[in-house]
Amino acid sequence: MATSTRTTAKPLIKLLKEDHDKVTALFEEFEELHEKKNSHDEKAELVSLICKELTLHTLVEEKIVYPLARESIDDPDVMDEADVEHAGAKNLIKELEKMDPEDSHYDAKVTVLSEYIKHHVKEEEGIMFPKLEKAGIDGDEVVQEVLQFKEKHQDSKSNSRKSVAGKSSSQSTATHSVK
Ligand SMILES: [Fe+2]
Ligand SMILES: [Fe+2]
Repeated sequence: MATSTRTTAKPLIKLLKEDHDKVTALFEEFEELHEKKNSHDEKAELVSLICKELTLHTLVEEKIVYPLARESIDDPDVMDEADVEHAGAKNLIKELEKMDPEDSHYDAKVTVLSEYIKHHVKEEEGIMFPKLEKAGIDGDEVVQEVLQFKEKHQDSKSNSRKSVAGKSSSQSTATHSVK
């Protein structure tokens, strides 16, 4: 019997899911802060981190993962929807970055972004990633590409943020200037 060297997208999917989990945890931290009064500085710091994480993650997907997925899974509808969802998320992020935590509707905007991302993650993990897994791409190779890309766009100075909810979280952040 021939030895199988079939490649799989699993390592790549694992990496992307780790990003999803990290952002989900940060949104949960925000929910805790939402209950507290006088936590504007903490909110601003946390939201800035959420926006950076999301910006880097969407960039990784748009530059590396989505082109590969569009080519390999043969489902343009799924990919088109993902593109539109990214555009919507980026608009919300842009608006939030201009806002002050004391502004009216600040918390509401973070909550809407959180729900928006939750929906998008569900579609990726439930529909796109399983198709990617079946497509037989070389996940290890793409992981290396993603890690190099992230390293290039990460801002090491912001890595030491203390968790506002007292848990240690988020070792990595991205710069605003990623393009
Ligand atoms: Fe995405
Ligand atoms: Fe994603």
